[in-house]
Amino acid sequence: MAGRRIFNEQGAGAVLRFGLRVVSMRVRYGGDYNPEQWPREVWEQDVQLMQEAGVDLVTVGVFSWALLEPREGVFSFDWLRDVLDLLAGAGIGVDLATPTAAPPAWLSARYPDVLPIDPTGSRYSYGSRQAICVCSPNYRAKARAMVARLAAEVGSHPAVEMGHVHNEYACHVPYCYCDNHAKAFREWLAHRYGSLDNLNAAWGTTFWSQTYTDLDEVVPPRMTAAFVNPSLDLDYKRFCSDAFLEEFLEERTILKSARPDLAVTTNFMGFYRPLDYFQWAAHVDVVSTDNYADPADPEWPMYSAMHYDLSRGLNKDVPWMVMEQSASRVNWRSHNLPKQPGHMRAMSYQAVARGATGVLFFQWRASRAGAEKFHSAMVSHAGTASPVWAEVTELGSELASLDELENAPVEAKVAMVISWPSWWALEAPGQPSRDLLLADQLLWVYRPLYERGVTVDFCSPDERLDRYDAVIVPSLYLLSAGQAANLVSYVQAGGTVVASFWSGIVDECDSVYLGPYGGPLRPLMGCDVVDVAPLRSGETLELKWETGESGGGVFWADVIAECEGRVLARVTGGGLSGRPIVVESNYGDGRAYYVGSRLDAATTAHLFDLVPALRGDATSSRGGLAVERVVRAGPNWRYEFLINFAAEERELEVGAGGLELLTGVDVGPSVSLKPSGIVIIRHPVT
Ligand code: GLA
Ligand code: GLA
Repeated sequence: MAGRRIFNEQGAGAVLRFGLRVVSMRVRYGGDYNPEQWPREVWEQDVQLMQEAGVDLVTVGVFSWALLEPREGVFSFDWLRDVLDLLAGAGIGVDLATPTAAPPAWLSARYPDVLPIDPTGSRYSYGSRQAICVCSPNYRAKARAMVARLAAEVGSHPAVEMGHVHNEYACHVPYCYCDNHAKAFREWLAHRYGSLDNLNAAWGTTFWSQTYTDLDEVVPPRMTAAFVNPSLDLDYKRFCSDAFLEEFLEERTILKSARPDLAVTTNFMGFYRPLDYFQWAAHVDVVSTDNYADPADPEWPMYSAMHYDLSRGLNKDVPWMVMEQSASRVNWRSHNLPKQPGHMRAMSYQAVARGATGVLFFQWRASRAGAEKFHSAMVSHAGTASPVWAEVTELGSELASLDELENAPVEAKVAMVISWPSWWALEAPGQPSRDLLLADQLLWVYRPLYERGVTVDFCSPDERLDRYDAVIVPSLYLLSAGQAANLVSYVQAGGTVVASFWSGIVDECDSVYLGPYGGPLRPLMGCDVVDVAPLRSGETLELKWETGESGGGVFWADVIAECEGRVLARVTGGGLSGRPIVVESNYGDGRAYYVGSRLDAATTAHLFDLVPALRGDATSSRGGLAVERVVRAGPNWRYEFLINFAAEERELEVGAGGLELLTGVDVGPSVSLKPSGIVIIRHPVT
């Protein structure tokens, strides 16, 4: 496998082309457009400014329910049709949104069951957005009626290119605990388990006398006195993700039945725990995501890269795009720092480098009133006098010239496996360490790869992995037998897996695999994990590589008994002294590394140096956030993106060089990049 260039088969970089309609031949540019907040005179000006900025796609109608249905059953589409006409006249495409994320006041007032209930039994109030119980029959009926009317009235308008269902599903209230949820949960359970005996067995209800004698006794995990049954909690999380998905599919079906060729999306939020985005992404024609990396965090470029690598990976058969980013500040953190000059542009190219087919903003024009009036926008309160406007127009004109990136997917040879059910179960109460968070486990392994310029595809444990040279498995706590077989057969066929502690611990029901830990993943472990020993915060586990170097781990130690694997490193002090902590084993034609602690940065680097696919590239800088390098590779050309996130100018070797796409001039053999500087160098495929 090593040495073979492996591409994503499809997806990243592909043209947004669905059915009869061509949605995109270029990197799309635009944002949420909320004309309902403005008088008509402003609309004309908006469209002119959009043309000036190179905008060619806007999301319209996303929070317009109260205007589209001002009174129950009374609809008003003329204003929307006028907006669409204006946009069509200017050649600006529309991502038509369903307005179901913001039910109107009349709906919540008249049908209180559309409002969700918290775990204590209190009902949320209206007066904001997203106060939705997705299992409320009233909400569902009104949402269906609204979407059907929207599709019938304007779905076939020539401006409409895409359908945008709802907005950030589950964003503000991911879990509702009402009786409608309880009823739907019981139906979901009946379908999943078939019988009460199966349910009791799956949930281990003999523990703490939780046995159910009737399905109606099952309630959502509301306020409980002690830890809730984690198996119940896990299934409730599965059910809630599915319940939102069911509502999404209902809206999607209505949009598509009115217009079968419509490309439909809904905007995701990156690593958002409540929704299993792998499941969701199977039902969208375009993955879209909202990225608000915090400018106050010095590591924002890495967080942003990681968000994009996930978005690209959720469904590798469809394109992906940034549906929302901010032009500068947001207004919902406690301190909302602006983006520094050049950072918005750099972050946008970061998305394109990682395969995005569109870069859009929330929102087009900053609001005068409402909860987000101090959120930045493409058109600020100061209008075109704002420095943001210059950045917005510059980027729009540049993106218009990148058509040739079509069909040049992102080159990624390394996969990182994540699973939402495993995430849910891992972070349930009652674990050996309460601080065991998936985000920390992912960052531990993603950060050094990012710093080495190794591009990572996030993958589900259910998908085929044979396109990758190495697969990283950070704390995949919940693992089905089928998922484990997938990983094992990947190694058998010649792949390399690096797996960390607390992987393969429980089955799909959150019941422990007995024997030494690891369950169906044990063929790849080469050792027996006979117990676990979380460390104190700040404590270091000292270790020594067999080659003599010292190292350290933090947070956690597996208690490992040696067996057939080759011990690469052992603990050197304390009660675990002499025990293996990093073990290598051969399996079939491949190799696996098992790591029993969260190695510190230098020790992780040592481990990754052992694996060719994880060594990185000499042209990317090591040991700090500096120049990001990502390659998109098409049939004739390889496009090398270099983005300087360092605070000072950087000089880089670029081999023979080639045409630089943004300036249209040849560069090489070295290029110099100012802070936030970007080059896209086109190299011939050799
Ligand atoms: C208490 C309870 C036990 C068990 C332990 C756990 O002692 O009585 O049932 O929950 O805590 O430490
Ligand atoms: C989310 C929402 C938008 C807006 C932005 C603000 O992404 O989808 O409607 O609230 O946040 O950052």
